[in-house]
Amino acid sequence: MSHSVEPAAALDPALVPKASEIAREAGARLREFYAQGVETEYKGDVDLVTVADRTVEKLIRGRLAEAFPAHGVYGEEGTRDRMEGEYRWYVDPLDGTTNFAHGFPQFCVSMGLDHRPAGLAADGDGPLAAGVIYDPLRDELFTAQRGQGAYLNGKRIHASRCAHLAEALLATGFPSRKRHASPNIHFYQEFTLRSHGVRRAGSAALDLAYVACGRLEGFWEFNLNPWDTAAGLLLIDEAGGRSTDFSGNPYRLDSREVLASNGLIHDELLRLFEDMFAGRDLEPIPTPQEYARQRAERLRNGK
Ligand code: IPD
Ligand code: CA
Ligand code: CA
Repeated sequence: MSHSVEPAAALDPALVPKASEIAREAGARLREFYAQGVETEYKGDVDLVTVADRTVEKLIRGRLAEAFPAHGVYGEEGTRDRMEGEYRWYVDPLDGTTNFAHGFPQFCVSMGLDHRPAGLAADGDGPLAAGVIYDPLRDELFTAQRGQGAYLNGKRIHASRCAHLAEALLATGFPSRKRHASPNIHFYQEFTLRSHGVRRAGSAALDLAYVACGRLEGFWEFNLNPWDTAAGLLLIDEAGGRSTDFSGNPYRLDSREVLASNGLIHDELLRLFEDMFAGRDLEPIPTPQEYARQRAERLRNGK
């Protein structure tokens, strides 16, 4: 089931404020760890984890259990609490760990709430009900509740009105596992040549929040998890944007591939995916070898 089915019964109006408080507290802990510096461990390939990821997930898990004792919690660092609950939080305590570990100031806390009505298959996803993303370094809190709009620090936000890919600013991300299996660098090249540019800032949740508030027109990534996407996708929905997989099917939490946009350039993005998968219409650029030959020639001619 996609998250675009009928809204859940009215949520407690205190839910988003309470979740925001938890995200702010978690973000404040991240800020402390960031200031003091942390050791990095490898989960695999270049997939990093730090004491901050684990400590902050534990903090969020405890706070969610106090605030919403019936809600499930599914966290990147292993939390699987009350999986039978009617509501389930997908939690990324630190989205942008590689940035965090290197002192690059782009990371956040992301918490998305999925409504899972009775009868839903264990691997099914219901409509997203709420989402909170907090950037502790900029003190930016993105919030959304289904049917109530999306907000940045309490002010309503909307996806951008840019209607052409050629005038769009985009973002993407690259996997930290099985890097040799990812074709994304080809998409990065092609989208770069057809837009104002593609940012690769290293926090998928913030990339999605930026699509929701109009700083970016679009975002795609090949292999994301529900804790990266749940909150951001609801923000985009509530801000008037659109999210699908690369074939245009409605986004599901287990889709893994994400194509999100302001809605207006979505069909253009989907067409480019279709063309690229079919090997059509690719923009030529020189290979490094061809470039080296041109460069040598220029140097010989003193240019
Ligand atoms: C990562 C970030 C990054 C994206 C990776 C994610 P993490 O999350 O969102 O932008 O490109 O695919 O895994 O590991 O920092 O929580
Ligand atoms: Ca993440
Ligand atoms: Ca993470």
